[in-house]
Formats: sequence, structure tokens, C-alpha cells
Amino acid sequence: MKSEPWWKEAVVYQIYPRSFFDSNGDGEGDLNGITAKLDYVKNLGVDAIWLSPFYTSPNKDGGYDVADPRDVDPRFGDLADAKALIARAHELKLRVIADIVPNHFSDQHEWFQAALKSGPGSAERNRFHFYDGNPDGTPPNNWISLFGGPSWTQVPDGQFYLHLFDSSQPDLNWDNPEVHADFEKTLRFWLDLGIDGFRIDVAHGLVKENIHKNHPNPQGLSDALRLDVEMDTEERNALLVSVPFFDRQGVHEIYRQWRKLFDSYKGREVMAVAEAWVHPPENATRYVRSDELQQVFNFDLLTAPFDGEFLFDVINRSIQLNSSVGALPTWALSNHDSPRVATRIGDSESRALALFVFALPGSAYVFAGQELGLPDGELQDTDRQDPSFIRSKGRVKGRDGARVPLPWNGDTTPFGFTTGKPWLPLNQSWQKLTVENEKADPQSSLNLFREALALRAEHLVNKGDVQWLESPLHGAKRKDLLVFKRGAVTVAMNLSELAQEVSIEGQVIMLSAGSLDSNSGKKLIPARSCIWSLN
Ligand code: GLC
Ligand code: CA
Repeated sequence: MKSEPWWKEAVVYQIYPRSFFDSNGDGEGDLNGITAKLDYVKNLGVDAIWLSPFYTSPNKDGGYDVADPRDVDPRFGDLADAKALIARAHELKLRVIADIVPNHFSDQHEWFQAALKSGPGSAERNRFHFYDGNPDGTPPNNWISLFGGPSWTQVPDGQFYLHLFDSSQPDLNWDNPEVHADFEKTLRFWLDLGIDGFRIDVAHGLVKENIHKNHPNPQGLSDALRLDVEMDTEERNALLVSVPFFDRQGVHEIYRQWRKLFDSYKGREVMAVAEAWVHPPENATRYVRSDELQQVFNFDLLTAPFDGEFLFDVINRSIQLNSSVGALPTWALSNHDSPRVATRIGDSESRALALFVFALPGSAYVFAGQELGLPDGELQDTDRQDPSFIRSKGRVKGRDGARVPLPWNGDTTPFGFTTGKPWLPLNQSWQKLTVENEKADPQSSLNLFREALALRAEHLVNKGDVQWLESPLHGAKRKDLLVFKRGAVTVAMNLSELAQEVSIEGQVIMLSAGSLDSNSGKKLIPARSCIWSLN
């Protein structure tokens, strides 16, 4: 049997380095801290880690403002630490995915510093989007930054530069071959160091068209682009259709080139996953055509309500759309940009959904802390550091809640994360949720994840399509009960407030809530929980 590439149905554990584990007491997580905890990660049963950026950065946007993409920021360690991390991960048979941020650099990058010093029209400025303003002194267009405020900032000689994010994150000009060459150098740099793949930040944003065209509703647009702003889906989609800076055809040419580069590393199975917020969903599949990238994030579940109808639709759609280009879907319930799933839909619901998702075809992404059932940290406004909080003048609370460091052990905050003062405070109410406590508790979320991932590897990975079952529903509505079969496992999720009895064959091997009950014939699924039954 031909063996499948490692990434195909991998479980990928996302580590936000600053929040994982602090090895030197300065209050911020670092690379040595990650290396120290890789045994823990391995024991979860995941296949790979994805590291959010740890590159040289003034850290105005949590490291997504990169000042030197081929070096490690001193707050995280140095290149030797990165090598040690990769080596230890590989020893443990964990793959390592690095974040690459091609839409923009930090304003501290040497290119941008040189662009500021060189005048309008210079080759240095042509690596970014520098334009003159309008005759009335306004910026070249009315686009709004995704973090709030205008997407243009003026420099002393009068020109403006474009930044879709913070003013400290100037967008790169991908019409310039120098930009392509520099990123290929960065990809090779990390591949040569042993990295196994990349998560491509804002993968849909690199190519800009019609810089001189105003958007009809810039304020609405900036809201539509933010996950944490609630908006009716139709309204959001209407605002997002054909924005001149996202999902342009030109981006695909870039990924075709990158794919060639990846494939030139023979025998390595290098992969990349695109962060592409695109509409309509069909467009996402273009990123995973056979000569482009291997995966594209599906963000539907980051905002999905705990509703069977809704989940059935988005899950089916994602499976079908991906299969139309021969790809498998990806699933993520949490990440560093959105509220944690336990906070968003509730504790039992988040466990049930995790179990459900782990049984689906494709790759599952787990955001560090999700395995503990961690909620968002409760923060004071004075603690917040997210540029979206700052630039929106507090209108948007921002993403810090999901970025509060992990609780490891002990009874008092900061629960072993650091011996110093954590960069964001950990809530005392997390005492029960430490790794130490959850390891010891057979009913904990941590143990649920471990058992589920072990059983997933054994019974579900590479077991083909899902087959939705109608028969055992006993009249229950799809809204309240979802059942599918994959391989020898039947998965049933009860989304209602009441326990439901279903007749499913086999023996229950996983249950997201309470303890396993009947093992033959009719099975009682507690409210808002999920079971796996093995035939
Ligand atoms: C991506 C990252 C996010 C960052 C933004 C700008 O969406 O996930 O954290 O702020 O890109 O780089
Ligand atoms: Ca540190």
C-alpha cells in the first residue's frame, strides 16, 4: 500500500511561542521553553507543531510584524535554539511547521528603513506600496486597515505607504521580483534548517489591484474583515465580494512557484497551509489545486454555532469543495486570532465538537490550551496589547484573551508558566485547568484529547469518506443530532439540551462527557456530547 504523505490527515498543534512556556523568567514564552515541553506535546498524540512567528520583530502585532525573517528574536532565543527545537521535535517524530508572513514586513525591516531614507520613485520604495496622496492631501484611496483606522500612513516627504494591518506593517509590493526572490530565500533558509512546512499568513493578500479605487463602504469593510466583529453572514459576504486587495488571481502564480520550490526538496514532503479568508468558499479550493498548496484553512468552525443543521452544511460543503480539487479539508476550532472555543460555545460543547472534528477526514488543527478546555483569559483593558484594540480605540477588544499563557502546574497564577511576571495575566480561576491537574483527572479534557487522538490514529486516519446516517435518528432533527460513519466508527453528536437514545452498532469507545454507559444496542448520548462507537 502506498503510504500517504504525513500532512494529509495530520493533527497539528499550534503553539503561540510567547504564551507557551517561559524558560528564563522574563515573563514571555520562548523557543527553549517549547523544546522543554515537547514531550508533553508528543504525548498528546499530535503529528506536528505549527509555530507562530518567533522572528526578529518589534512585536507590535505579536511577531506578525517581521523585521528579519531569517533570524530569531532575542526574546525567543537564537538560531541555535531554533535548531535544537527542530532536532528534538524530529527525534520525537513531530514535524515542524513555521509561519511565513509574506504580505508585509515590520517597519523595522532594513528594506523599509532604506525606503524611508530613499526618495519617492526609488528602487527602495518600490518594494512597498508608496504613492502620492490626492491633490486635497487625502491618502491614495479610502481603504481601511483591518485593525481599524486608515490603511495609509504618510511619511515626512508627503508620500503614503499602504498597510492593511498596523501602520508598523507596511505591505510588500509583489509586482517587484526582488520580493519574490527574498521570500524564496527565506523559504529555503528554514527548509535547510529542517522545517517541514509553512503556514502562510494572509496568503490571499499579497497581490493588490486598483490601488486608486475607493471601496464603497470602507468602515463596513473593515468590520467584515474582522472575525471578532459580529455581522450577518450575507452582509459580510456582500462587503467582501471583489475587494481589490484580497484573493486576486495573481496570488496563485506565487504559490505555483513556491510549490516548485517545495517539491525540489526531494523526499521531504514539504507542505504549506494557506490562511486565506476568501469568499465565496469555492475560491478557497483554488489554493489547493494540485500544483499549488497542500492545505487551506477552513475557518467556518471558528465562528459556527453549536447547531446541527449549520455544522452539517459547512462540514459537507468543505469536504465536497476540497474533493473537487483532490484535496482534504482542514478543521480548526480555535486559533490565536479568535475567541477560544470553550468561551465561544461552552465547555461541554467544545469537547463534543472536538471529538466530532477529530473523526472527520482531513487535518485537524489544535490551538495550544484547547486540549485543556481553556477559556479566554479575562483581561483588564490596561492589560491589552493587540494592535486592533489600540487602533480601534477600544471598540474592538482584540485577540489577547486567546493568547493568555498556558497554566502548567501549581495552585497559584501564573501556574508555572514563568517564574517572573507573565506578559498577560493568567486568571486564578484556571487552577483546575493546569496540565498537572488535568493529567491526574481521568475525566479531564486533556485525557479526552489524548484518548481521542490515539483512537483516531488507530481507527480513523485514512479511512476515507464520511457517510451521514439518517436511520438511527428516531425522528430527532438534524439540528439536534448528527450521525456519521467513517471506517468502522460511528460518530454521533447530540446537540440538544436533553439526553438522546440512539441505536448504533458497536461498542462505545469515546464519549465527550460523563462515563461510558451501555455497550450494545441502544445508546444514551448525554446532552451536548459526542460518542464514537466501534464496530
Ligand atoms: C494573520 C495572523 C494575525 C496577524 C495578521 C497580520 O491574520 O494570523 O495574527 O495579526 O495576519 O499579519
Ligand atoms: Ca522567556
